[in-house]
Amino acid sequence: MKKVMLTGDRPTGKLHVGHYVGSLRRRVELQNTGDFDDIFIMIADAQALTDNADNPEKVRQNIVEVALDYLACGLDPEKSTLFIQSQVPELCELSFYYMNLVTVSRLQRNPTVKAEIQMRNFEASIPVGFFTYPISQAADITAFKATTVPVGEDQMPMLEQTKEIVHKFNSVYGETLVDPKILLPENEACMRLPGIDGKAKMSKSLNNCIYLSEEPEEIKKKVFSMFTDPMHIRIEDPGKLEGNTVFTYLDAFCRPEYFPEFLPEYANLDELKEHYKRGGLGDMKVKRFLNSVLQAELEPIRTRRKEFQKDIPAVYEILKKGSEKAEAVAAETLREVKAAMKINYFDDMALIKEQSEKFAE
Ligand code: TRP
Repeated sequence: MKKVMLTGDRPTGKLHVGHYVGSLRRRVELQNTGDFDDIFIMIADAQALTDNADNPEKVRQNIVEVALDYLACGLDPEKSTLFIQSQVPELCELSFYYMNLVTVSRLQRNPTVKAEIQMRNFEASIPVGFFTYPISQAADITAFKATTVPVGEDQMPMLEQTKEIVHKFNSVYGETLVDPKILLPENEACMRLPGIDGKAKMSKSLNNCIYLSEEPEEIKKKVFSMFTDPMHIRIEDPGKLEGNTVFTYLDAFCRPEYFPEFLPEYANLDELKEHYKRGGLGDMKVKRFLNSVLQAELEPIRTRRKEFQKDIPAVYEILKKGSEKAEAVAAETLREVKAAMKINYFDDMALIKEQSEKFAE
């Protein structure tokens, strides 16, 4: 079987370091292994509209921001197909047929939908499109016969929903769709990178993000304002690692080679953590180290982004080419789906013959 990777992001803002360690970095690594026959990276604008219907301008403006972030991180249009969801209408058609295979109560039990309904105070007034977006996500994944879907933990319910639709479809209509596997981030810190304030999740509305395109002085300011251990007041005090944002970020970003480069007194992160727990290591020193690490990680991304920003028409061209390729692949899957569902009347010679015989005396 072909190995196909598919994943995507909603274009509701620039991407931040949470997106990076949660999925983006992994995608680029996987892309560069050359292990995949096909890679599809989708800007999920139609999904973004399910809860931004009154703000199309926001979605429109952020298409290029997300595309630039992708290219800056090293997604290569020669190796990965970058495309825009709304430009592949086959996805709507697939969603429409999958809707017959999912119950209302099943959607209501989807933890992501449930949580978002509460968070956004939608409750009774939830748009139908938003309510059914897990189904549309199943269409995104199955249209490309994805075998691997690298996403954050929050997307697990969507993958479960997709697998259920795949199983149901295949059992009712015959083996047609491919069962995808979720690929979660490598460690706890990458799974749930907190905002700089230590709050659960990085989010634009909480104003606690570090963006991939952030300038060096801003990164520094944000690192120095990070939440640590409020009980670690004097340098001699023993410090706590749990809930300490600076250490969580080090878990997500630090590489062994950064110690000889920026903090040669310590052999590795474990040694640094031990010293902090024991007492005698000040927050400032750890923050200075994290700042060096983040600057080293983000500098090449920012520089590449600026290069791509010089030719925005070329970025649109990449997305247009990618969307055309994506549509061709989705159209082939849709053809197979319609054949399995017996709604392929005009290219089913056996059907036409059978009907002719039925009406002949
Ligand atoms: N729901 C994803 C998010 O909020 C975006 C998305 C849409 C997606 N369709 C997808 C992710 C298909 C993986 C596969 O980030």
